[in-house]
Amino acid sequence: MSVDFGKHIDMGTPIPLKIGGLVTLQVDGQAVTVPQGASVMRAAAEAGVKVPKLCATDTLDAFGSCRVCLVEIEGRKGYPASCTTDVEEGMVVSTQSSALDELRRNVVELYVSDHPLECTTCSANGDCELQDVAVSLGVESSRYGLAGAGHQAASKDDSNPYFTFDPSQCIVCYRCVRACDDIQGTFALTVSGRGFDSVVTAGQADSFMDSDCVSCGACVDNCPTEALMEKPVIEMGLPERSVTTTCAYCGVGCSFHAELKGDTVLRMVPDRAGQANEGHACIKGRFAFGYATHKDRITSPMIRERIEDPWREVSWEEALKYTADRFREIQDTYGRDSIGGITSSRCTNEETYLVQKMVRAAFGNNNVDTCARVCHSPTGYGLKTTLGESAGTQAFNSVASSDVVMVMGANPSDAHPVFASRLKRRLREGAHLIVADPRRIDLVDSPHVRADHHLALRPGSNVAFINAMAHVVVTEGLEDSAFIAERCEQEQYLKWKEFISTEQNSPEATEQATGIPAADLRAAARLFAEAGNAAICYGLGVSEHSQGSTTVMGIANLAMLTGNLGREGVGVNPLRGQNNVQGSCDMGSFPHELPGYRHISDPAVRGLFEAEWNTRLQAEPGLRIPNMFDASISGNFKGLYVQGEDVAQSDPNTHHVEKALKSLECLVVQDIFLNETARFAHVLLPGSSFLEKNGTFTNAERRISMVRKAIEPLAGLEDWEVTMALSNALGYPMDYKHPSEIMDEIARLTPTFSGVSYEKLERLGSIQWPCNDAAPDGTPTMHIDEFVRGKGYFAITGFIPTEERTTRKYPLLLTTGRILSQYNVGAQTRRTANSEFYSEDVLEIHPHDAQERGISEGDWCGIRSRAGETVLRAVLTERVQPGVVYTTFHFPASGANVITTDNSDWATNCPEYKVTAVQVSHVTQPSEWQKEYREFATRQEELLDKARV
Ligand code: SF4
Ligand code: SF4
Ligand code: SF4
Ligand code: FES
Repeated sequence: MSVDFGKHIDMGTPIPLKIGGLVTLQVDGQAVTVPQGASVMRAAAEAGVKVPKLCATDTLDAFGSCRVCLVEIEGRKGYPASCTTDVEEGMVVSTQSSALDELRRNVVELYVSDHPLECTTCSANGDCELQDVAVSLGVESSRYGLAGAGHQAASKDDSNPYFTFDPSQCIVCYRCVRACDDIQGTFALTVSGRGFDSVVTAGQADSFMDSDCVSCGACVDNCPTEALMEKPVIEMGLPERSVTTTCAYCGVGCSFHAELKGDTVLRMVPDRAGQANEGHACIKGRFAFGYATHKDRITSPMIRERIEDPWREVSWEEALKYTADRFREIQDTYGRDSIGGITSSRCTNEETYLVQKMVRAAFGNNNVDTCARVCHSPTGYGLKTTLGESAGTQAFNSVASSDVVMVMGANPSDAHPVFASRLKRRLREGAHLIVADPRRIDLVDSPHVRADHHLALRPGSNVAFINAMAHVVVTEGLEDSAFIAERCEQEQYLKWKEFISTEQNSPEATEQATGIPAADLRAAARLFAEAGNAAICYGLGVSEHSQGSTTVMGIANLAMLTGNLGREGVGVNPLRGQNNVQGSCDMGSFPHELPGYRHISDPAVRGLFEAEWNTRLQAEPGLRIPNMFDASISGNFKGLYVQGEDVAQSDPNTHHVEKALKSLECLVVQDIFLNETARFAHVLLPGSSFLEKNGTFTNAERRISMVRKAIEPLAGLEDWEVTMALSNALGYPMDYKHPSEIMDEIARLTPTFSGVSYEKLERLGSIQWPCNDAAPDGTPTMHIDEFVRGKGYFAITGFIPTEERTTRKYPLLLTTGRILSQYNVGAQTRRTANSEFYSEDVLEIHPHDAQERGISEGDWCGIRSRAGETVLRAVLTERVQPGVVYTTFHFPASGANVITTDNSDWATNCPEYKVTAVQVSHVTQPSEWQKEYREFATRQEELLDKARV
């Protein structure tokens, strides 16, 4: 539940799914017209009539268990429940009568006989639907008394770190059970026992923490009483105010109400009007926000001459002047191109835009790059080449119309959980699922969802796989010829057709490379091609390869080939990792592209920016992140400004990255914590968390959503203000009073954003770009009548195996991924109770491979690659196939990137995180790197502590 801050009126039952005609009826003498299939309760709510209810809520299908919503309907016997009765034309409904009052009071008194109205001492006082109903019916006590058997002595389950379950407050309305089943799709809850003994239980487990519960909070949101309640609310009382904002974790971009008491955020309540999440959330956005006020937050600017020196706290003015002076000295000594900047996909569009503007205008070069370099840069390249736009083609809710969904190299239930819940709902309705992933992700087999095909391909064989899928479609005549003829470049298609039809692309010929039995692949290809609507969702398991861009183009080819673009239910859906990775790319964070993906070498585009920015821009693209590192080691690159990125942990080949960072003369890190990169810094500028700033994020479906300030920045400035001040200190003037002015500038300069403004975002809730004169309210589905590039382009996607091969020395393939409760480099989630769910990275290894090496569950194992060595604890599981090992990368001491190589995508330099040949052996102590890391990290913490003392 959320306190009613006037944002949402619960209509009792959902909008009917199938919109038929309209029906007009009378409710308490008022005529009201609603869609066919709506409930009487919803019609009454539309007419402004509030019918008492307990088990109904508009996020869940009606259940009809509580019997307080009874009404009278002319011509019908008895008192039907309004939540489970559909409207009919001409129906005459009365919601008020003395008989109804008596019936409802009787029901509520029965509840109250086991649920004393001790509301003034209850933490839900003012936020309890039972209390509301009792008050509205004038029930203050129960004529049945409190003396009989009851549940008041039942003990609380407070095993979950974020919420409690108090059975004594439970009215067994099943809302939590239905929320877990229908919204979240985890099916963790049941009601055991019958009648009086009915009790909500977390599966077969003793407690929520021991159950399958994934702490999404949907049950808590939907509980009408205090039975399921957030711990901060129990401890501190109900919130007093609410600010609607956007989650700063993953690319789903869920909308939340940050509910506060004073300046303390008590809870994040998912926004039922949120267009990306429709009222749902996952553990990270819903509960893991405590990092924002963690004691580790950096709240004062700091400087030091050398990384061996203690930090010195200074004023903002001194820190910015010091930075500007150092950067200018470096440029005077080593040349204009010796400094650069890295923008953050965690920061807002406006902040990212300003950093790239500062680099281009104040630094005077194009040495700007972003973390998308290491995740989805191949998406930008591949989709731009084939379809003409560097972004996904659909809205998330498009999947509700899909008949077949292929999930490739993505793990939505861990990395994009709210999208996963929506997808699972569609799968439970009967859509088919193909999973192409080396590992058996949860989606393959979860409650009431089973993949039709799990194609467990070998890491590094994506291109062979996607080509084989297309080969089957073409050679079996399953292509959509009409779509291809109308929408795609014919000459190129014929060339591509010849290429893809060759035997080398057949499932049989690629079987050895992919490890997928040819018959399985053929069956999956037929299922995909013959579907009415088939969609492809993919993730970093596609992009982070030496042929990442090729695979993305292969995916686009398959979608065009089968006519699955340009309408609901189909398309190419890259699941973006970070909250604003789409936005940081849109905002011109790449060295070769200005905002809106326009090449820096285009004089007309440059002229536009030069006129607005009043400066001259360099026509040559600048350095990418890996080039910056190489240039630093070779001595040509000396100064770097990193906003909200942790390259020391997230980028591949840690030895190389650390060497590059140590070679810099001035490293400036702006972050909320002393992250791994900041340990090598000379200037530390405090960052502001998403709760402390205004701006916008753009999610994976191109949806621009507002980020609103809930509390003042702990260090006094929002990140955009810091970049602006640094630019001014460098002598390039910037003067914005509010991020809305930055967005206005973006809109002036970027055709796909020309219709975007804060006023429109406030009015529409969110906007999916392109938003311009042609699409004033935005574009949920792209490429409807034609592709952005005009005709679709079938790129030739020859399979070139990665250089990273297994050998006798390195016989296993390591691949990496994420886990639900931790996020990316873990800087935020590690500073929350989420670590109770996952406190260290582990190595998943198949029991057969483990046995061969004498490794048992929980043993320390050394993982050695051509790049380095690290040590992790072993988890024996058949989720990974023999020959493949898997780990996450959320904890810096794990050193996952010590072992990843610096192989990268041929087109974009995106690192090949997903394929590293390794050997694994039983060891008894940490690796040398881990020992050095601990020593260095401890020393840096001490240097920070000294400054703080
Ligand atoms: S928190 Fe989510 S997963 Fe856990 S029981 Fe509640 S609804 Fe189910
Ligand atoms: S815990 Fe809450 S939602 Fe679940 S049955 Fe009890 S009262 Fe209803
Ligand atoms: S799904 Fe992503 S955006 Fe939504 S709450 Fe979870 S982490 Fe945040
Ligand atoms: S609200 Fe209708 S039966 Fe409970």
